[in-house]
Amino acid sequence: MEPGGSTTLWWDSGAGCLCYIEQTLLPNELVVVECRDIGRLATAIRRLEIRGAPALGVAGAYGVALATLTSPSTSWEQFLDDVRKGAAMLRSTRPTAINLAWGINRVLALVETSENREQARKRALDEADTISREDTACCHAIGHYGAELLPESCTVLTHCNAGALACSSWGTALGVIRSAVKAGKQVRVIACETRPLLQGARLTAWELARDGIDVTVITDSMAAQFMRKGAIDAVIVGADRITCDAVFNKIGTYMHAVCAKHHDIPFYVAAPLSTFDGKNREHDVVIEERGREEVTTMGNRTFVPDKAAVRNPAFDATPMELVSAIIMENGILRPPVNIQSLLSCTNTK
Ligand code: MRU
Repeated sequence: MEPGGSTTLWWDSGAGCLCYIEQTLLPNELVVVECRDIGRLATAIRRLEIRGAPALGVAGAYGVALATLTSPSTSWEQFLDDVRKGAAMLRSTRPTAINLAWGINRVLALVETSENREQARKRALDEADTISREDTACCHAIGHYGAELLPESCTVLTHCNAGALACSSWGTALGVIRSAVKAGKQVRVIACETRPLLQGARLTAWELARDGIDVTVITDSMAAQFMRKGAIDAVIVGADRITCDAVFNKIGTYMHAVCAKHHDIPFYVAAPLSTFDGKNREHDVVIEERGREEVTTMGNRTFVPDKAAVRNPAFDATPMELVSAIIMENGILRPPVNIQSLLSCTNTK
């Protein structure tokens, strides 16, 4: 991966497969997986080999393209049925990040309106490529707008990984940081480790350090004290879904937002319009609950007694009133958020 994270997942037209960086192995090993069927892709998404909302949108789009290529059916009706079933299976892998269903549905709509299999295959692959290119362009635009919000010299706290690895490239929250650094600003990053799967410690620290950006990892429980001591100038996070009343992001985001408000620190959310959900409110959204072992074990060691119950919600919701601004590809949005004008892209800076 080049500085800025050239590509996290891409279509290899020679090999006829989806290639992606296997994120569970980072930072120790940089392994590229070649994925040839939608079942394997669903496993990769469930295991977080591919993760982060925009990257899930791109993966979902390529997943539908894979389904068109691998369906053995000779009849059009059976072919469509195979692709629809594959799309439904992929959609069910992770319920909270809206980009996954968005990417799947965008490609599926083109397949369903095609005249034959050959046309469907070509349109699916072309559309997935377009979604991937658009995502990179969105991240650069988000970076451009967001960089203007940061002081010339500042320390920014971020949570989870909203970087190149969570997108096609560049990143949303980390895209803002990359763009600010590129513009000559002195940005130091505090990366919260992000229990239980350590996306901050493993992925954010890895990609920023590779780019030569100043990054320090802290445990999640240290963030409040850093804010209290005046060591944080701004918080920037990504999002998995934005409704009119809340921002859904990695579990732990809400506590940073509450602390930021208490200490009068701006709390920014960086996300493309594909992350907005104009149909639902906070209470309608399903928060993914993941397995017990993610909380109870580290490496080979189990440190929670078998008889103790464990909860593992993967995301939380931050009420909109705690958000200072949402940084999008078409500008900066400040609450109160009007979801309709937001989705028609009019209520921007
Ligand atoms: O469970 P993950 O690693 O997929 O969670 C990812 C996040 O919460 C990110 O912050 C979010 O998807 C935004 S990525 C630009």
